[in-house]
Amino acid sequence: MRFSGKVAVVTGSAQGIGLAIAKRLYDDGCDYVALMDINEEKICEAARTLDAEEKHAGGYQVNVADRESVRKAFTAIEEKYGKIDILINNAGITRDAMFHKMADDQWDAVINVNLNSMYNCCKCVVPGMRDRGYGKIVNLASVSAFGNLGQTNYGASKGGVIGFTKCLARDTARNSITVNCIAPSYVDTDMLRAVPEATMQRFLAAIPMGRLGKPEELAAAAAFLASDDSSFITGECLVVSGGSYM
Ligand SMILES: NC(=O)c1ccc[n+]([C@@H]2O[C@H](COP(=O)([O-])OP(=O)(O)OC[C@H]3O[C@@H](n4cnc5c(N)ncnc54)[C@H](O)[C@@H]3O)[C@@H](O)[C@H]2O)c1
Repeated sequence: MRFSGKVAVVTGSAQGIGLAIAKRLYDDGCDYVALMDINEEKICEAARTLDAEEKHAGGYQVNVADRESVRKAFTAIEEKYGKIDILINNAGITRDAMFHKMADDQWDAVINVNLNSMYNCCKCVVPGMRDRGYGKIVNLASVSAFGNLGQTNYGASKGGVIGFTKCLARDTARNSITVNCIAPSYVDTDMLRAVPEATMQRFLAAIPMGRLGKPEELAAAAAFLASDDSSFITGECLVVSGGSYM
């Protein structure tokens, strides 16, 4: 019950890695887990699968790229539950294309959802965390930040997440707030469904452990960085990749 007494927010948690993280925080004793997602029906259902009575978990329809939508939800949670101790910035999208074929809206969508969301959500929680002298922020980056075919938009957004994480960690370190990120390689979620079979075989061949990551394995890493077990770790990027980057 390492999260006993804590209030957490997990963005993009209707499915995949975000849902696994929300479940892990809930199972490890969080007082309240706010699950946020752009998909209203799925997020309400996801929250109810954790807690049918919605006493210790609740679903919120939020577009993390929309500052007003984010502000409204975070304000409501802080007013009702008194604080936010843990923020997991997980919501993310891909809109892959070779650079010469990439359309403006593919660039804008990925930067808005994956990177601008970091600013939008952290802006809401950092003031309260500073006042209380406690906060744990975990951001989802990706190894695509180190270079990947057809992902200039995604790689730029995730490289931005790493830089954002390190700079925010500097700004908040004296307030006992830790800010870290996780860079997964390939995890078995819907995000990978669009990848052609031949490309998937190429990905697998490059992973020393010879398999995709599981959402629960990412949740374990996120829970570590969200817990007091990582109290002296800040500004780090933890690569979770089955050995791909050793
Ligand atoms: N799956 C992978 O292989 C992989 C690898 C590296 C990094 N990541 C990162 O991990 C995170 C989770 O990925 P996943 O694989 O679980 O993806 P997923 O597509 O399964 O889930 C993403 C969730 O984010 C939600 N979402 C999308 N846009 C949103 C918005 N504007 N506002 C709120 N919610 C929104 C979706 O509705 C969905 O529920 C992402 O940031 C992704 O970039 C995933």
